[in-house]
Parts: sequence; C-alpha cells; structure tokens
Amino acid sequence: MATKLMQAVQYNSYGEGVSGLKQLAITQLIGIQKGALHALYFPRKFPHIPCTDVAGEVVEVGPQPGLDIGERTLKYGGGLSEFAVASESLTVARPSEVSTAEASGLPIAGLTARNALTEIGGAKLDGTGEPKNALVTSASGGVGVFAVQLAKLGNNHVTATCGARNIDFVKGLGADEVLDYKTPEGASLKSPSGRKYDAVINFTAGIPWSTFDPNLSENGIVVDLATGLSSMLTFELKKLTFSKKQLVPYFVTVKREGLEHLAQLVKDGKLKTIIDSKFPLNKAEYAWAKSIDGHATGKIIVEQ
Ligand SMILES: NC(=O)c1ccc[n+]([C@@H]2O[C@H](COP(=O)([O-])OP(=O)(O)OC[C@H]3O[C@@H](n4cnc5c(N)ncnc54)[C@H](OP(=O)(O)O)[C@@H]3O)[C@@H](O)[C@H]2O)c1
Repeated sequence: MATKLMQAVQYNSYGEGVSGLKQLAITQLIGIQKGALHALYFPRKFPHIPCTDVAGEVVEVGPQPGLDIGERTLKYGGGLSEFAVASESLTVARPSEVSTAEASGLPIAGLTARNALTEIGGAKLDGTGEPKNALVTSASGGVGVFAVQLAKLGNNHVTATCGARNIDFVKGLGADEVLDYKTPEGASLKSPSGRKYDAVINFTAGIPWSTFDPNLSENGIVVDLATGLSSMLTFELKKLTFSKKQLVPYFVTVKREGLEHLAQLVKDGKLKTIIDSKFPLNKAEYAWAKSIDGHATGKIIVEQ
C-alpha cells in the first residue's frame, strides 16, 4: 500500500458550510485517480472527504481480483481528493468514448433519475412500455437533466419545470412542454396540454400534496426525491386511506448494474451528462458554494 501524501478536501463537522472545507495533504491510500463531484450524503465519521461520484483510472490494486491497473472506471463513493479508494462492487469500466468529466457526473444523479423512473414510476426506458405522462420538476438541475432524457428514451410524454432561462435548454433535452416555475402556471404544475400525470419525478422541495393532487391521473404517483417531513406524512396518510394516488419518498440505492447501464447509454450517444461548470481540486470550495446555491444547470465537476 502506498504511503505518499495527496491533496484532499475535508470537513470536520456538520453545519459549517463552505467555510468548513479544508484543503490539506493527507496520506494516500490506494485507488483511482479522479475528477468528480456530487455532494450531499451524511457521513457518520469525521474528518470526512466529501463527494460521492468519481471517475478516473486505476493506479493501484488491492489483493482482491476485479480491477486492473490502467483501467478507466467510474464509481460511486470517493471524495474530493487526488486519489480515491474504489470498492470493486461499486466500480464499473468506463468506455473510452465517455470522458472522465462526463462519467463523474453520472453515478448518483443518473442512478437517482433512472431508478426513480423505473422502480417507482413504472416507466421502461427502452420504449417497450406503455407511454406515460410524466412530470419532472427542477428539470434543469443535476438530476433533473437525466430524468428528462431517460423518460424520453422510454417514449413518455414529458412536462418539465425549470427557470425561464432554461426553457429552451430543457426542451432541447427532449421535454415536450416546459413550465417556468416562477409563473402561476408553473407553480400550479398544470400541464399546458391538459394532461394528467401518471408519474411525477419530483426534485423540488416544499411542493404540497394539494398542488400535486389535481394534476395526477387516477393512479398517478409522485416519486419524491426532495423528501421532507411533510412528504413522509403524506406517504403514510395515502397508504392508510388506500388512496389510488400515491406519494413515495425515494432514496437511491447504488448498484453496479445501473452504473453499467448509464455508461452504456452515454457511450451509445443516447444520454448526455450536462456539465454546468468545472473547478480544479484546489478551488473545490467554489464548486461546493455553487452546488449549495441551487442554481446549476446540470452537474458541477471538480477536476485535478
Ligand atoms: N433521494 C435521493 O436519492 C436523491 C439523490 C440525488 C438528489 N436528490 C435531491 O434531488 C434534488 C435536486 O438535486 P439537484 O442536484 O438536481 O439540484 P440542483 O442541481 O441544485 O438544481 C438546480 C436547478 O433547479 C432549478 N430550480 C430551482 N428551484 C426550482 C423550482 N422551484 N422549480 C423548478 N426548478 C427549480 C434551478 O433553476 P434556476 O437556477 O433557474 O432557479 C437550477 O437549474 C435535491 O433536493 C437533492 O437533494 C435526492
């Protein structure tokens, strides 16, 4: 095992925001060179190197078989550091057509969109399922851009919400109709063509059930990725009352199979990682601040 020093970004506790991030040199373990960012998972131990999504090249391997030195990979879990430890079970080969930056934007965001659509939303992404009317909220964000593209791969009709500046961009991703969230129509989530939604893939915090309800089809379901207390309560209430319309809080589970599927779609030109901006590792604080600000269009990438 190598014992060189490497550059890394760590934080020591919750709640300090960007000012809690520290640039420092720490002992390098073993792993893959990287360039990545998605943030927000809750560590149980400190100091913690944040960020969950990593892509790079294997530079050293442990005793277990599975990865080869020089192999291009993308993986879930790692951090803002020059090298990251890759668990073989959460790492997949990265096709040469998929750049490090494109791959590093995929894991959490791509899997969240994919799994929310398929596991709860009931959509098929290969066009073999019955087309559904889907609504994707915050469709210009890191996760929403994948949800729109993947829903369209399944031939679904997609209504999307985003800010005015991104309406044409989201239409370019394939959305059939787009609402500006700052207008009364956008806030109501009402489909301009009068459709009722079979599935809402919700990435916007704080939308009450009373807004979703009139827009849902008879068996419509809200897959809530921006889960809070009120969505937990709505979930329980809908279950208790045997409501046909449902709201399901959803947390992504990372599996290799999903990562492989996403990498293949990008390789085949069927899915794009939209990159909002890139920052060098020694400016990771700026990336973090931009992510927290909540106004990115696509993914924020940190590179070394
Ligand atoms: N449950 C899970 O497993 C899971 C996994 C990943 C993410 N998430 C959650 O998914 C949510 C979205 O994450 P993200 O990374 O995609 O967010 P993000 O990248 O920060 O989203 C930013 C985008 O959303 C737009 N936006 C902001 N408020 C909006 C609104 N009210 N309606 C429509 N668009 C709005 C912004 O447009 P403007 O700049 O024009 O305002 C911006 O383009 C977060 O709550 C995150 O925690 C959940």
